Amino acid sequence: MTASVTVRVPAKVNVQLAVGPVRSDGFHDLANVFLAVGLFDEVTVRPADALRVTCEGPDAGQVPLDAGNLAARAALALAKRHGREANVHIHIDKNIPVAGGMAGGSADGAAALVACDALWGTGASREEMLEICAELGSDVPFSLVGGAALGRGRGELLTPLETGGTFHWVFAVADGGLSTPAVYAECDRLRGTAAVPDPEPSSALLAALRAGDVAALAAAVGNDLQEAAVSLRPSLAATLAAGTEAGALAAMVSGSGPTTAFLVEDEAAARKVADALRASGTCRAVRETSGPVAGATVI
Ligand code: C5P
Repeated sequence: MTASVTVRVPAKVNVQLAVGPVRSDGFHDLANVFLAVGLFDEVTVRPADALRVTCEGPDAGQVPLDAGNLAARAALALAKRHGREANVHIHIDKNIPVAGGMAGGSADGAAALVACDALWGTGASREEMLEICAELGSDVPFSLVGGAALGRGRGELLTPLETGGTFHWVFAVADGGLSTPAVYAECDRLRGTAAVPDPEPSSALLAALRAGDVAALAAAVGNDLQEAAVSLRPSLAATLAAGTEAGALAAMVSGSGPTTAFLVEDEAAARKVADALRASGTCRAVRETSGPVAGATVI
């Protein structure tokens, strides 16, 4: 019997997040262009007497370890479908910012699913895995798939996208998290009664990704949740300004925030922007990385 399985899973940034009107189920239709980037959590599962989740890493204290944890929910969902008990110890080695808009919780859900499938030999099809991911949360299917993809519906209906190169990023981690539902609610509040168009992917953005053209990508990125995130956390404006002044080609809130994302030309530019962000005193931590990278993978 396999003693343990470890899965490595990446964070994501949304290079485009177009948010439509609120739907009758409370979600919003999206045109959500995901890019997986090289900040990783590692999730290890091993047989145990009962389901248990532990977490280590700088922000481990902020991760809920109860049944609400997406990794625990993933194990339970797979076990239920295959008529077995979810008796596993799930250990999360956390490196992705918590509640930061980088899909850290979603990543752990996808990773735990892949890990339990391998540990138990359930042999779930890709289709079933994606279905379970979509039940767990809107961003979870992308954590499974990785690379770059367009998410429609509430973000769970994925079409893989071609990318023509590697894009370099700097991420500024803010103090504390932001609640995703609160940011969507603030977006609705700021929009008031104005008519909201159906969300559409930007053809210029998709072409830039395909060509690996960083300048064109920088000109096309956009996040409809940015104004709401900054409204709830006004200090993000200073972080965005600090990265822009240091030469970032684009500065944006990552997903629902409060992590901010800076697209840069290359590694040298990343170092310069990262140093300036650290010196600005406007954020808690700074990370340099690149994407696309693969989705949840057994290591
Ligand atoms: O799907 P997930 O559980 O990650 O969504 C968390 C919350 O984010 C939802 O309850 C909803 O308030 C908001 N959301 C949304 N529209 C989406 C995705 C998420 O309104 N497409």
